[in-house]
Amino acid sequence: QERGHVTIVEMAPRDGLQNEARLVDTDDKIRLVDLLSDCGYERIEVTSFVSPRWVPQMADAPAVMAGIQRRQGTRYAALAPNMRGFEAALASGADEVAIFASASESFSQKNINCSIAESIERFRPVAEASRNNRIPLRGYVSCVVECPYEGAVAPQAAARLVRLLSDLGCYEISLGDTIGRGTPEAVDAMLDAVLGEIAATKLAGHFHDTSRRALENIAVSLERGIRVLDASAGGLGGCPYALGAAGNVDTVSVNALLEKKGFSTGIDAEKLERAAAFARSLRSTA
Ligand code: HMG
Ligand code: MG
Repeated sequence: QERGHVTIVEMAPRDGLQNEARLVDTDDKIRLVDLLSDCGYERIEVTSFVSPRWVPQMADAPAVMAGIQRRQGTRYAALAPNMRGFEAALASGADEVAIFASASESFSQKNINCSIAESIERFRPVAEASRNNRIPLRGYVSCVVECPYEGAVAPQAAARLVRLLSDLGCYEISLGDTIGRGTPEAVDAMLDAVLGEIAATKLAGHFHDTSRRALENIAVSLERGIRVLDASAGGLGGCPYALGAAGNVDTVSVNALLEKKGFSTGIDAEKLERAAAFARSLRSTA
C-alpha cells in the first residue's frame, strides 16, 4: 500500500566527488548533474563553495553551477561554510545553501578548522544573509553517532547541535553518520534524543555505508518518521576529514528499499541506474 512520499536528496556531485583523489573534469561533473536532473529529483546538492586548499575537487564550483541544465521542479543546492562561500553560492544561482557543523569537537576542528561554538558564530551571518535573500538554509550535523577521532558520540551532543542549527534558522537538519559506523541501535538512541528537540518533519538522514548497515539505519529513521534521505548515486563518497569513511549509501539501493516499503520518491529507477553507472565511472578506482 502507498505509505506516502520520501524525498531523496542526491549527494553524488558533492559528497560523492569531494573525496576523489583524481580531479574530475568540470564537464563530467556537469554531465553527472544533468543525468541526475533527468531522473526527476526534487533536490540535488551540486557542489561546495569552500576553500580550494581544503577541498581541491570542489574548486570549480562556479563553473559547475553555470554549466548545468536546470530542470523545473529540481532545487540545486551548495555548501557554504562562511560568507565568502554564501556570496559565491548566491552569485552562482544556488537555490539553497547548507552550513555544516559537527557533534564532535575533533571533527569540527579537522573539517572546518574551528570549535563547535566558533562554527555557530561563523554561521550566524550566513543564516542572516540567507534569510534576507530568501534562500532556504539547510544544516548538517556530522558525527551524530560516531566520530573518527573520538569514537562514540553521546546522543545529547547530536541533539544539542540540532537545536543550535534549528535556532539559527535551518529549515531542515541532516543527521550525518559521517563515517558510516552507526548501528541501528545507536541511530535509534540518537534519534530519541534529537526528536526531543525537533519534529521528524524537520530532519533528514544522511548515512554512509562503511559497515553496510546504512539501509537498516534508514529503516530505523523511517520508523521514527523521517521522510527526507540523503543518498549518492553509485555509492560515491567519503569525507576527506573522515579517514576510512566509505561511500554514501547508494541512491539505487535507497530508492529500491523505499519502493519495496511502499513509499513514492518520484525518481525514475531506470534513468537512475544509468546516472549511477556514470557516477561510478568517475571514480579513481573504477
Ligand atoms: P580556515 O583556513 O580556517 O579559514 O578555513 P580562512 O578564512 O583563514 O581561509 C583559508 C583560505 O581559504 C584562505 O585562502 C581563504 O581565502 C580561503 P588563502 O589566503 O589561504 O589562499 N577561503 C575560501 N575560498 C573559497 N571559498 C570559500 C572560502 N573561505 C575561505 N568559501 C574553512 C575555514 C571553513 C573555509 C575551511 O576549513 C574549509 O573550506 N573547509 C571545507 C571542509 C569541507 O568542505 N568538508 C567537506 C564537507 S562536510 C561533509 O562532507 C560532511 C557531510 O557530508 C555530512 C556528513 O557526512 O557528516 C556534509
Ligand atoms: Mg557525508
